[in-house]
Amino acid sequence: EKDGFDHYMLKEIYEQPRALQSTMTGRIDEAGEHILLSDLKLTPEDVRGIDKIYIVACGTAYHAGLIGKHVIESLAHIPVEIDVASEFRYRRPLFKGKTLTIVVSQSGETADTLAALREAKRHGSAVLAITNVVGSSIAREADHLLTTNAGPEIAVASTKAYTSQLVAFYLLGLYLAEGRETVSSQERAALIADLRKLPEQVEAILAHAEEIHAFARSIQDEGHLFFIGRGLDYAVALEGSLKLKEISYIHSEAYAAGELKHGTLALIEEGTRVIALSTQEQLHEKMVSNITEVKARGAVVLGIALEDNVELHRSVDEVCLIPSTHSLLTPILSVIPLQLIAYYTSVALGNDVDRPRNLAKSVTVE
Ligand code: F6R
Repeated sequence: EKDGFDHYMLKEIYEQPRALQSTMTGRIDEAGEHILLSDLKLTPEDVRGIDKIYIVACGTAYHAGLIGKHVIESLAHIPVEIDVASEFRYRRPLFKGKTLTIVVSQSGETADTLAALREAKRHGSAVLAITNVVGSSIAREADHLLTTNAGPEIAVASTKAYTSQLVAFYLLGLYLAEGRETVSSQERAALIADLRKLPEQVEAILAHAEEIHAFARSIQDEGHLFFIGRGLDYAVALEGSLKLKEISYIHSEAYAAGELKHGTLALIEEGTRVIALSTQEQLHEKMVSNITEVKARGAVVLGIALEDNVELHRSVDEVCLIPSTHSLLTPILSVIPLQLIAYYTSVALGNDVDRPRNLAKSVTVE
């Protein structure tokens, strides 16, 4: 049932091109000009009337939500607040005006996320669920359902669910933008065209998995490492760090690269491994200076960068290239090498990759 793969996690990593495709299927018109989300019961008035969005989730789904916030704010111009479900449910969030609460959950059964959904409904907020499991509690209780259709995810470490949640956010962001007329039709078509290319671009990255294998070998004996990035890359850094901790048990921290100076730089020593993501053109220069800062303290840096970013290539020790795409879409590509680094490191250390210690696939207790 693992289709010849050694672990479910690797199988699910390789299933991503197909999973992304199926999240998109039936939701883009043939001409590639419009997003069709007839599964949602939002009227045009509902779409225009949203004053504020909350995104609530746990773990990897929360990390997808961080990207979702950025995507919805930049495409649909709606303010978005994001929270971890276990915080949201106990912090008395304010529900003023017309609020849409988006809950994100692969399993649809996470206790804290379900409680957050109920809390939002109790305050009169409409709830939209992004989930992979159609008959789940969260799917049943939400007012609007956007399924990710990624197929069953067995490995505890989430991979294809995350990237398909990102696709769901791109579709939703574009859909809301169309209803609120915040993005031109040309811009929308360009973004849709790039969205459609993602499955084959992920395929292309997976074809070079060997290079990443080599880097994983170089970190397996490390006591700790850092992931750094800015903007969307910071959100992806958080996910890469979680994945590595979860299955390799190596401690790592993700940092917004501009925050390093505010304390963390003290932890960089000769030989400390740093994984630096730089996919956002407007932030390239800033990242190059952060990379220079850590290298000056002896860090060994692996860059995750767009193929045409020559300046970054020169500033790092090793580089993993990803194909060019729209700046909002890079997380789907840049997370792939990070998933593979976590996977190969876990295998090299002899860990139980699919069932890491202390963790459960579905957290149905708080
Ligand atoms: C990490 C991971 C967890 C889950 C989290 C939420 O790889 O899988 O962090 O993302 O427990 O689970 P769902 O999405 O089922 O609500």
